[in-house]
Amino acid sequence: MTKQLRIGLIGCGLQGVDVLCPPLASDASVELAACADVDEVRAKETAERFGFARPYLDYDDMLATEDLDAVVVALPHAALKTAVIDALDAGAAVFVEKPAGLNQAEAEEIIAAEHLTGRRVTVGYCERYAEGRVIMKRLISAGAIGRIQTVSASKGSWPLEGWRADPDAGGGPLQWVGSHLTDQILWMTDAQPVRVYGEMNRAVETGVDDATAFTLRLSGDILASVVCSQRVGAVDVIEVAGDAGRIRAEWEWNSHQVPRDIVTIFSEVDAAYSHPTTIEPGKPSPLAMYERELAAWVASVKDDTDPPVTMHDASRVLSVLDAAVESARTGLPVEIS
Ligand SMILES: NC(=O)c1ccc[n+]([C@@H]2O[C@H](COP(=O)([O-])OP(=O)(O)OC[C@H]3O[C@@H](n4cnc5c(N)ncnc54)[C@H](O)[C@@H]3O)[C@@H](O)[C@H]2O)c1
Repeated sequence: MTKQLRIGLIGCGLQGVDVLCPPLASDASVELAACADVDEVRAKETAERFGFARPYLDYDDMLATEDLDAVVVALPHAALKTAVIDALDAGAAVFVEKPAGLNQAEAEEIIAAEHLTGRRVTVGYCERYAEGRVIMKRLISAGAIGRIQTVSASKGSWPLEGWRADPDAGGGPLQWVGSHLTDQILWMTDAQPVRVYGEMNRAVETGVDDATAFTLRLSGDILASVVCSQRVGAVDVIEVAGDAGRIRAEWEWNSHQVPRDIVTIFSEVDAAYSHPTTIEPGKPSPLAMYERELAAWVASVKDDTDPPVTMHDASRVLSVLDAAVESARTGLPVEIS
């Protein structure tokens, strides 16, 4: 049997524990070696629940003591960059949750650390693994809607709390869900961001962004319209229109659950979709996307191949978010170089 991948977890919170640990714990090719959280109770409970051999209060101790092949980082946004670089310096490959840093400058610092250490980072843009989005991407790439002209996308959350509502910690829906949305657009269109014009509402009490709308010009003369808000619930919809059809994926949700990602397509060039057609993905649980993204990352670490979602992808997303913030502040469009 080949050697198991020794994995450490930094950040035993909601995403790290409830979402990322279950698929890792059921992967026989992985050894859950150690976990770290500044909250001692969380670190201990996580170790007990998932069988991590050792819990740590200080992740630096964990990185110095354990011989880890790979590290999962799931921290508040303001803490992501430093932990990723520390893990790379310790010789580990890294899975970091989105958006990987507070801004593009932080993403570029991580890229520099990748070059220095020779270790690679993947970024948790999990929606690339949602079955509906995979179907959508495949049909677009196959030419089913012709040449892409426009994208319309919207994503929301319920009002964010704790660090997620603190501007200094990287809170607010633009980073929380706008990052996912922007990654989806860049991935679906395979285009480069060119210019952003943004509008933003800020929460009176905290100053954190409350809702953001921006237009995004992409290479190839593609125009995208993007909206995210923390007052609209679990909205998640993306529609791509081309000169030979259109395709749309939308989470059909019930209360706070996300049961399905429904895809609707109309095509003038693919006879199978010459009438608007709904495609229902096979697996109803959205958690399947996390299983797939972690399996893809683990395989890339074991095979020493390129990470499935790279830091360059994350850097481009953050360039767009930075530009939306700056444009909303100045009232002027912002060019992305
Ligand atoms: N991809 C997705 O679908 C998705 C969904 C939710 C959250 N996330 C991402 O996951 C990340 C974490 O979000 P969350 O909701 O789990 O937050 P959380 O607050 O629930 O968990 C963060 C944990 O980090 C710990 N922590 C904070 N600073 C630390 C430090 N310096 N060292 C060690 N531990 C520290 C906290 O005690 C907490 O347990 C964020 O990047 C977020 O955007 C992704």
